[in-house]
Amino acid sequence: MTANDVFFQRKQAAAVLKHGVLMRYPPVFATMTGSTSDGGRVVYLDGYAGPGRYEPEGDEAVGAPGSPLLAVRSATTIAKWSRDLHCIFVERKPQYAENLRQVLADEAGADLNYDVLDGDVQDRLDEALEIAGQSPLLAFLDPFGTALPYEMMTRQLMGRDSALKTEVLLNLNLEMVWRIGGLITGQEKDSEQTTSGNSATLERIDAFLGGDWWRDTFTAARESGEPGSAARAAQTVATEFRRRVLAATGFKSFSVPIRRRPHHPPLFLLILFFRHQAAPYQFNEAASGANAEWREHFRKIDLSEDLARRRREEPPDLFGEDLIISITEQEARDIEAELENGWVTTIASNIRNMLDQTSSLRIEESFADIYGATLGLAREKHLRRAWDQLHDTGFVHRRDTTQKIRRQTIRRRD
Ligand SMILES: C[S@@+](CC[C@H](N)C(=O)[O-])C[C@H]1O[C@@H](n2cnc3c(N)ncnc32)[C@H](O)[C@@H]1O
Repeated sequence: MTANDVFFQRKQAAAVLKHGVLMRYPPVFATMTGSTSDGGRVVYLDGYAGPGRYEPEGDEAVGAPGSPLLAVRSATTIAKWSRDLHCIFVERKPQYAENLRQVLADEAGADLNYDVLDGDVQDRLDEALEIAGQSPLLAFLDPFGTALPYEMMTRQLMGRDSALKTEVLLNLNLEMVWRIGGLITGQEKDSEQTTSGNSATLERIDAFLGGDWWRDTFTAARESGEPGSAARAAQTVATEFRRRVLAATGFKSFSVPIRRRPHHPPLFLLILFFRHQAAPYQFNEAASGANAEWREHFRKIDLSEDLARRRREEPPDLFGEDLIISITEQEARDIEAELENGWVTTIASNIRNMLDQTSSLRIEESFADIYGATLGLAREKHLRRAWDQLHDTGFVHRRDTTQKIRRQTIRRRD
């Protein structure tokens, strides 16, 4: 059984956050970019598509939807708003590609446009870009390990005519970087130990990250050797990678960490590469909603583990279980409310500090600083509350409730 097979047998915790973002962001991208495209056509390229569905878990009749099913569901939803989301799926493993065709035949509406391309995304990229033509394109790259070589990602995908709307969503495997980075720190001790297999692995990462620069970056960042330093070094490599992509292509980026459990180091970074100013604001809305779902997912796992433990240790008491469930639900609501109040306080304090230096803040331009540490967690509703609180204290002018908040400017009262 391969790592792939294990992956698709159970919807992993990390997939909850990834899929939460995928349910939310592509429809927004398509709605925004499709307003000016021919026939409302927008293209979504899923370069590492998988079999379409996970294997059923427990007593489930069908498994959780994979990224392709989420995409065709989004396509069905936004068709109501005259957006034609054409999905292109590429999958290398023949058995998964076949399964994907079956899942889509069963579940995609008859009027949806989609293609399933077999084989390596590197070999099918030209064809996919030809299908995309002049339409806005959102490319999702979600391999297990390394994704498209850097040159292909930056020159072919991000190198599309700058008049065309293009975004790339890359799920960067940090755990892979820190595990493979371990080969270099080991290699430094005794270069004789480097096997040809390790060299091939290192070269694959070099191709993906755009050179072997990351080896020095990783080694330097790992120097302390403290627990967790490899995970932090992988994040340093990711930060430098994003900086290089920006310098080479002009694409800025916004990243959301994906963890197996709260307080664990991030295993993946879901990175959106974009040009348009509205993108990070909307992506943050998606990340915040997905993060709320992810917290709820863990709460339910913790609760079911707790109930299972009680059943083992104490005589069954179903009435007691109902009580425990309703108490934990109330507690969860209280914890969420407390978290959200904290975010509102942080955002209000960020706005106050920024308005001590300047008289006005354009939200779309400054939203990353406005959210600060709450980026990816808080969203517009929290920003609205923070603004209203600051208005109530007389510090800023009132917001315009008839306009989109992201297009507004917060002005200090003098
Ligand atoms: C992490 S899984 C994708 C999961 C899927 N995006 C989801 O969320 O449901 C990666 C998939 O990419 C496929 N794959 C790996 N390398 C590939 C390549 N070079 N070209 C196309 N597909 C590839 C694997 O067979 C696997 O099914």
